[in-house]
Amino acid sequence: MKNTAVTFKQAKEKGEKLTMLTAYDYSTAKLVDEAGIHSILVGDSLGMVCLGYEDTLPVTMEDMLHHTKAVARGAKNTLVIADMPFMSYQTSVYDAVVNAGRLIKEGHAQAVKLEGGKEVCPQIEAIVRASIPVCAHIGLTPQSIHAFGGFKVQGKGEEAARRLLKEAKAVEEAGAFAVVLECVPEALASLITRQVSIPTIGIGAGAGCDGQVLVYQDMLGMYADFAPKFVKVFANVGEEMRKGFAAYKKEVEEGTFPSKEHTFRMDESILEKLY
Ligand code: KIV
Repeated sequence: MKNTAVTFKQAKEKGEKLTMLTAYDYSTAKLVDEAGIHSILVGDSLGMVCLGYEDTLPVTMEDMLHHTKAVARGAKNTLVIADMPFMSYQTSVYDAVVNAGRLIKEGHAQAVKLEGGKEVCPQIEAIVRASIPVCAHIGLTPQSIHAFGGFKVQGKGEEAARRLLKEAKAVEEAGAFAVVLECVPEALASLITRQVSIPTIGIGAGAGCDGQVLVYQDMLGMYADFAPKFVKVFANVGEEMRKGFAAYKKEVEEGTFPSKEHTFRMDESILEKLY
């Protein structure tokens, strides 16, 4: 059954945990979908893990559309959420609606995600009014790293914790169907989860959230440039890839690959006529 923004809300009501992973291409999306993960986030993290940027700021709408289209072709039951890149919604409510619309219409996502609290509520309201489900994202919002002064845990002090709680309520009020909580102390994330009616999806926010999200290259040991404390490597695919690439190099250099098994044949009599 296709997961939707509505099934997300129902999961919270039933107390069922939600799973979300990032994906950026067709074949990974298919594997995530087949594993029964509820949602794929085509995150702007693609700027770092796929495109090799230092942060997510250079990611463009065209990058997001390109990858969202590929993911949508591979996702059957999984809800596809496309991230709105830096400066695609901060500039105006109008830009936010137009760009969210493109991610749905051209990218074939079923929902969008944007970062921020109270300051982006007018954007959330307008996008939701256009019938596009919005997932909010508060706490450590990577598009604001220059304002934060780096990748830091958010909401540790009393004032910051109160602000985060208010932001969660504000994005709920604005109509978001879910909210990502990134790098937030576990106790605060649990409190927010109890105080809002929409599902909270944690990343570095502890087990008290309604669901979890991870960047797939992180949880498969495929991206070593930056290793946050909250990442668990569930399968060391990165190491398997390294072994596979080295084995391929060795066999090609030794002449053992390709063998007969991987080679096409032709009638010898035809070949003789070519000499
Ligand atoms: O871009 C992304 O992948 C994200 C997740 C880390 C939540 O925003």
